[in-house]
Amino acid sequence: MKILFIGDVVGQDACEVLCTFLPNFKHELEIGKGAVIINGENSADGNGITPHSAKLLFKAGADVITTGNHCFKRHDMDSVYRENPFILRPANFGENSPGKGVCLIDRGSFSIAVINLAGITFMAPADNPFKIADELLETIGTKNVIVDFHAEATAEKKAMGYYLAGKVSAVLCTHTHVQTADEQIINSHTAYITDVGMTGALNSVLGVDKDVIIERFLCYYPKKHSLAAGKYSINAVLLEINEKTGKTQSIQRINRKMH
Ligand SMILES: [Fe+2]
Ligand SMILES: [Fe+2]
Repeated sequence: MKILFIGDVVGQDACEVLCTFLPNFKHELEIGKGAVIINGENSADGNGITPHSAKLLFKAGADVITTGNHCFKRHDMDSVYRENPFILRPANFGENSPGKGVCLIDRGSFSIAVINLAGITFMAPADNPFKIADELLETIGTKNVIVDFHAEATAEKKAMGYYLAGKVSAVLCTHTHVQTADEQIINSHTAYITDVGMTGALNSVLGVDKDVIIERFLCYYPKKHSLAAGKYSINAVLLEINEKTGKTQSIQRINRKMH
């Protein structure tokens, strides 16, 4: 079974790029009964995720949308999180928040669980993601488990990869928008990468207009972010998993450039 996991999509234009690119790409990769998971926490223009940007990502071909620290930036998302089990917010944001941090995709002969967790180092306070992962894994009825660990610190991400090695199929980390080249399979079981990267404008600072960010560094005052335009890069990873054992056999980085 194959899983295509696409890193943080930045802005509505990037969603549109995926709507054009992804249907054929899924076919090319022969995803079939596998799944496409997209981190959509920055998919709306002006940050966060909106019902419209989520709709675009599902139209593009997402089976599950994961998020992160920007999941509750837009209040009109509350009902979407409550009503759609395939849009996740971090599981360690507490039980009183709308939505859930885990879902199950039923493919008949097998199922795939997706867990979304947020880091707590250099990030807003949240419940301990390691302990919440343990609690969730006790109740999940499948060996095929994909974790999107949305975190800032490389040490916390690596630690989570090793902590969950042998317990889940993959720990795929997001949030820093820069694809890292350290993909590996830990203990012949668990795929890991420190950051999947982003889907957004290539000539940008994490998807944002580079001049705006440079000016912030030069002038020390906050300036409104605007998204960059031009060529887009699509950062993702492709996993091949033995759905009977939950073990990942291969992880391949994808970095495509699109106009
Ligand atoms: Fe992001
Ligand atoms: Fe983030």
